[in-house]
Amino acid sequence: ATERTFSMIKPDATKRNLTGKINAKFEDAGLRIVAQKRLHLSKAQAGEFYKVHAERPFYDELCEFMASGPVVAQVLEGENAIAKNREVMGATNPADADEGTIRADFAESVGENSVHGSDAPETAKEEISFFFSGLEIVG
Ligand code: CMP
Repeated sequence: ATERTFSMIKPDATKRNLTGKINAKFEDAGLRIVAQKRLHLSKAQAGEFYKVHAERPFYDELCEFMASGPVVAQVLEGENAIAKNREVMGATNPADADEGTIRADFAESVGENSVHGSDAPETAKEEISFFFSGLEIVG
């Protein structure tokens, strides 16, 4: 079925001017970018977005990093968009990511891994509404 998922291009990638190359991988896989905006999150906003990870040892580092430069928040739409986006991104750790995936081609480390994508329908819904109103999503 046609689905929507939330995607975020992270500061390591915007810093290296990779937004277009990453978007090309989404579009080549049949995902449509139906909403997109560039933002610079505060550490508090990053902390709120990643609050499910609050107890993890890397939480503080993750929030610092996500507030270290611009991000691009997006809604991707397509057939099985959640799973498809996860395929296009590759494994969280770029060392484990399949050839041709975003993380294999661009990510620098498990922390600075270029993109975030929702892992399930419920989180997709929450993450989309964290950043976008209905009016801002144009399918
Ligand atoms: P993401 O999909 O954005 O969700 C949580 C993020 O935490 C994850 O991608 C990684 O970038 C980050 N992360 C996971 N493990 C570590 C780690 N060991 N050190 C730093 N960051 C991590």
